[in-house]
Amino acid sequence: MPTLYLFSLVIFLHAASTFSRHLPEEVSEAAGRYYSTTQLDREQCRTGNPMDDCWRCDPEWDTNRRRLADCAVGFGKSAIGGRDGEVYVVTDSDNDDPVNPTPGTLRHAAIQEEPLWIIFDHDMVISLNEQLLINSYKTIDGRGHDIQIAHGPCITLHNVSNVIIHNIYIHDCLPSGYAAVWDPSLQYTSGGSDGDGISIFSSRDVWIDHCTLANCYDGLIDATYGSTAITISNNYMLHHNEVMLMGHSDEFLDDKNMQVTIAFNYFGEGLVQRIPRCRHGYFHVVNNVYSGWEMYAIGGSASPTINSQGNVYIALDNNSTKEVTKHENSLDEEWKSWNWRSEGDMMLNGAFFTPSGEEASASYIKASSMAAKPTSLLTKTAQYAGSLSCQVGQAC
Ligand SMILES: *[C@@H]1O[C@H](CO)[C@@H](O)[C@H](O)[C@H]1NC(C)=O
Ligand SMILES: *[C@@H]1O[C@H](CO)[C@@H](O)[C@H](O)[C@H]1NC(C)=O
Ligand SMILES: *[C@@H]1O[C@H](CO)[C@@H](O)[C@H](O)[C@H]1NC(C)=O
Repeated sequence: MPTLYLFSLVIFLHAASTFSRHLPEEVSEAAGRYYSTTQLDREQCRTGNPMDDCWRCDPEWDTNRRRLADCAVGFGKSAIGGRDGEVYVVTDSDNDDPVNPTPGTLRHAAIQEEPLWIIFDHDMVISLNEQLLINSYKTIDGRGHDIQIAHGPCITLHNVSNVIIHNIYIHDCLPSGYAAVWDPSLQYTSGGSDGDGISIFSSRDVWIDHCTLANCYDGLIDATYGSTAITISNNYMLHHNEVMLMGHSDEFLDDKNMQVTIAFNYFGEGLVQRIPRCRHGYFHVVNNVYSGWEMYAIGGSASPTINSQGNVYIALDNNSTKEVTKHENSLDEEWKSWNWRSEGDMMLNGAFFTPSGEEASASYIKASSMAAKPTSLLTKTAQYAGSLSCQVGQAC
């Protein structure tokens, strides 16, 4: 056992330091180079990650893009995005008109009524003038190009369903003031955005996969106001303070039904807290790698159920940040009944999880969404988190 532990420790610390030396683009480029020089057959290419194994080994991924829609697992697995619609090719990275969107822009694609599978014809950095409100039944699929949404307000889902966001690098998102923006359910809204990377608001059936997210003004991904049926998977997040907020406020009881799966993500360097911070609902945190947190990793208030399975938690060297968990805003006698468990997690460099409430599986049924894999698998899968450089005609 001590040998196995040490072996794993070395592997994971190595994985963590490898990632910490790379910028996101370099990580995805490295992955792209590896696959472009090695024509892997389908079996060799599989890593054991059920979502990736569903599409990444297919050299025809570009002609079979819609297959991705059937690859999600977890609570967001019903999100079909634009699977049953036309392909819309975004050709224009500029000219963002929030009220009368210009054809060829991402905003024009995103607001349409009908289902659309949205792709891009060249590498682009899209800096929006106002938040981008995405309508129901849309997939934003950045595969094949380096697509960034950055240096402006970013993405909002408001009262929609069936949205897939895949392979986009979202960073340096800024808040916006009150301004008219086309809104799917209201035609126009004049609300500002608070500077999240992706804000999920009263929405359901959402899958966010293989995105890289960093350095936004507010959260990287927030889900609030009765949102549910969400999978956040295979993302690479770094350099950010309040990473993910799940649940609007302790008093907002509609979030009692929230179910979110957080799986196969790589939580990289420079993350501080809220990875995630949960309220009320049911949270399945499974097969993620946490390479450090400056305050805490998983926190919550208002009696959320947190089922942590098969994760790797690597604490930083700082002795005051070894605890994975933070039970917020509550007296001991209250939080001791919240159901938080750690099962099959690997704790490294002094990391520890403070469980509470029930231990038995029966109490976690509503926070169970997929079978956890053993942590040993994550040495293989973690390096592919974040946006990938997929080449047409090759396995990705
Ligand atoms: C949400 O969308 C539905 C239609 O899909 C609409 O009837 C309803 O008014 C919207 N609610 C809000 C709060 O915008
Ligand atoms: C250790 O972590 C605590 C709590 O986040 C922080 O206040 C302190 O500055 C950290 N110490 C060092 C040496 O980074
Ligand atoms: C951190 O904790 C370890 C183990 O308790 C102890 O040996 C070490 O001196 C501590 N380091 C600091 C900087 O306090």
